[in-house]
Amino acid sequence: MAEREVWGTRIGFILAAVGSAVGLGNIWQFPFKTATFGGAAFLVVYLLAAVAIGLPAMLAEFVIGRRSNLNVVSAFRGLGYRKWRFVGIVGLVTGFWILSYYSVVGGWVIRYLFGSLTGAYFGDPAGYFGTISSGTITVVFQALFMAITVGIVAFGIEDGIEKATKVMVPSIVVLLAGLAVWAATLPGGGEGYRFFLSPDLSDITENWRDIVPFAVSQAFFSLSLGMGAMITYSSYLGADDNLGQDSLSIVAFNTFVGVLAGLVVFPLLFAQGVEPGEGGAGAVFISLAQAFSELPAGRLLGVVFFGVVLIAALSSAISLLEVVTSYVVDNYDVSRPVTASGLGLVLFLLGVPSALDIAVFTWFDAVAYGALLPLSVLLVLVFVGWVLADEALDELRKGTNGIPTLGSVWLWTVRVVVLVAVLGTLVLGVQGLAEDPGLLPPV
Ligand code: PFF
Repeated sequence: MAEREVWGTRIGFILAAVGSAVGLGNIWQFPFKTATFGGAAFLVVYLLAAVAIGLPAMLAEFVIGRRSNLNVVSAFRGLGYRKWRFVGIVGLVTGFWILSYYSVVGGWVIRYLFGSLTGAYFGDPAGYFGTISSGTITVVFQALFMAITVGIVAFGIEDGIEKATKVMVPSIVVLLAGLAVWAATLPGGGEGYRFFLSPDLSDITENWRDIVPFAVSQAFFSLSLGMGAMITYSSYLGADDNLGQDSLSIVAFNTFVGVLAGLVVFPLLFAQGVEPGEGGAGAVFISLAQAFSELPAGRLLGVVFFGVVLIAALSSAISLLEVVTSYVVDNYDVSRPVTASGLGLVLFLLGVPSALDIAVFTWFDAVAYGALLPLSVLLVLVFVGWVLADEALDELRKGTNGIPTLGSVWLWTVRVVVLVAVLGTLVLGVQGLAEDPGLLPPV
């Protein structure tokens, strides 16, 4: 068995976790789901969910990872609860499921990056999305995205992931902030800010059955919870890290980037007179492409923007692939590069149907949000709150140097409040899926 690596620095861990969290979930899914579910009302519920549910749930994953120093499946055995390994397996399956269609969107991004260089979408931005979003060529770009992801994971924790994310994360913020400032100058964009930032609370009371489960699952997706990613990343941590502080920084930063992306996308949409709820998964791409095609220096802006999105998507995808890779490398005598390549191939094949047919893609996304994400997080919460219990508290208190951690408050929140909220999300999500498996509007 290969010797286990550790993070080179504490900031390396935080940046990698942020790199995992910040991705297509912030820049594409978040504006897309916000637009689908009515704008600012969704934002309010999402922010609440990220802080009140996402943060405690992230701590729960960190506790499992650091205490066991093992991959997501072996962690449960390592902690002495062999029977609970299925929790890790549900996480693995959820991660696999999501990465399969995530890499399809990653492929779209690469395509748009090239499209910006050559100006390919400038004549017909809406039509362009239609031609690139599914079909054989989509499969080729999905494969390309997967291949890059495999390449980075193959180099291992310090050489690959840590170095890559150190560059990726700061550049994402700088570029998005620049674009947000630029978007603020667009005529007609003001309506976009209203849609995004000024909630009509009656929307929440009327549509809570849709808004709540999607907002909670969006928080999980965006914070990389329920997929073993945070368990895996924190398993490379030393005992001197303050988990509470780390998770707070990660949640705050991730939310900031999501809101920043909204501040780019919504003024753009409204400046072009695009109705944000229409257009489904492609709306964000179409509206951005439209903007770049009309703007002076649009090619350059397009390359910069899609370059940033690609970086963000890659730093997330590598964390998902790392989950499974670390499981195999920890347990079997197989090298990292071979493991990463083999798994990349399986993931690629699983994603092919989503690349070929947007209806399949939409269904994968709906199942992840409605069932897999809340189920997976729920199991982690039950395990940490009721099984690991005092051991979890003990782990949380390590590395805090006597700074009060509010550990018991956290534990009881996990045991009761958060657990019930996630259970409710799961019930609503599954009901929603049963009523309408397509859930999301057709693209
Ligand atoms: N959090 C990532 C995003 O918002 O794009 C997506 C993601 C990465 C989900 C890693 C899950 C994961 F394990």
